[in-house]
Amino acid sequence: MSTESTKTEVGSYFISNYPPYSQWKGDHLDAVTGAMQAPPAADTPLGLYLHIPFCRKRCKFCYFKVFTDQNAKDIEAYVSALCREIELVSKLPVMGDRQFRFVYFGGGTPSFLSSRQLTSLVDRLRANINWDKAEEVTFECEPGTLQENKVKTLKELGVTRISLGIENFSDSVLEENGRAHLSKEVYRAWDWIQAADFANVNIDLISGMVGETWDNWKYNISQTIKLSPESITIYQMELPFNTVYSKDILGNKIETPVADWETKRAWLNYAYDEFLNAGYKISSAYTVVKDNNKVNFSYRDNLWGGADLLATGIASFGHVGGVHYQNKADMKQYKTDLTELGKLPLGRGYVATPHQLLVREMILQLKRGFLDVGYFKQKFNVDITERWKSEFEQHQSDEMLTVTPDRIELTRKGFLHADALLPPFFEDEFQGIRYT
Ligand SMILES: C[S@@+](CC[C@H](N)C(=O)[O-])C[C@H]1O[C@@H](n2cnc3c(N)ncnc32)[C@H](O)[C@@H]1O
Ligand code: SF4
Repeated sequence: MSTESTKTEVGSYFISNYPPYSQWKGDHLDAVTGAMQAPPAADTPLGLYLHIPFCRKRCKFCYFKVFTDQNAKDIEAYVSALCREIELVSKLPVMGDRQFRFVYFGGGTPSFLSSRQLTSLVDRLRANINWDKAEEVTFECEPGTLQENKVKTLKELGVTRISLGIENFSDSVLEENGRAHLSKEVYRAWDWIQAADFANVNIDLISGMVGETWDNWKYNISQTIKLSPESITIYQMELPFNTVYSKDILGNKIETPVADWETKRAWLNYAYDEFLNAGYKISSAYTVVKDNNKVNFSYRDNLWGGADLLATGIASFGHVGGVHYQNKADMKQYKTDLTELGKLPLGRGYVATPHQLLVREMILQLKRGFLDVGYFKQKFNVDITERWKSEFEQHQSDEMLTVTPDRIELTRKGFLHADALLPPFFEDEFQGIRYT
């Protein structure tokens, strides 16, 4: 989390859910199963997440569950287990007669799969589910894994939103941080992506990669504007415990090589200015888009509005009927549950109280840049400006946001500090504890 202390410390994190992941437990799994066996709540949108945990190389800053040593046989075994999981999920009563509103292939690197593996995966999935009515199908790509025919395959399979992990345009920075691709692979992939004409192409950048300088950052922003994607996501570099850099720092092998928070925020601030000048609009603390009437981000907006998300794949995170869950993170156990025991590979869960669901939506939506006071009154019967009066007053006097009876809005300073604004809304028992 982006605290005021200016050094980027090991243990920093994004807030992406509530209550904190560290509180999720194996003994809540009966409730997870119960929620999956119940019919859906009225008017709750449904999404599907599929986790593909393979990468060519492990980036030194990455904290995701990824494998870099799997052969074609291992990958087929994983894909088979994933297809079996989708078959089980498709029969859950909580599906009701809902269609998927949004689908997300995340990783790891979904584009690590070959065209043949992808087509075979989707053919098998289609025996049980389809996403013909989905308003968005996102597919995460690492530039160096793309080929022209793979990009065409993605289009044929119904992908509408490509998310491309560029991170930086300098080869020395990419190499230093352990990325598997160089800049020439970005430009090559870009032409194929443009030719395939996806509705929405997003570029991921990171402010604070090791070796980044002001000159390099300015170059990143000008190159991004030249490519002119529909959407741009800028993450501020975090150092969760399980990254290569974090382990090296904790083992005293290296000094913190990541820029401090002040610098990362100055870079983000510069990027916002440049993107706004180029016609983009801020759509969340991390994202700018060209036209928010044409291109939204259905996965994020639905999730931040309390949608159900059926999560499939190793270690993936889901949410049904107000209950959180995470799949098992051990590959052998994940596969055994599905292919030998014929059951969902559920690892842990958390039954959120109505108050916790309110806090969750409020902090996630604040990252979008504004809170609609009427929405919370209607959905949770709570006036958030009254319930968290002193917290909002404090943030207002710190010039992070403005409060009116109908709407709370982040200022530019608030956008730059978004994650640091959220812990004061946590319940007392979750103050100061480990988040992940
Ligand atoms: C699953 S990856 C995207 C797809 C693909 N694996 C890739 O990296 O190109 C999701 C994104 O998380 C971001 N990310 C990973 N580790 C991070 C960290 N420690 N701090 C900030 N952002 C990070 C990167 O921008 C990355 O593109
Ligand atoms: S950032 Fe992307 S490519 Fe790098 S290890 Fe993580 S998931 Fe894989």
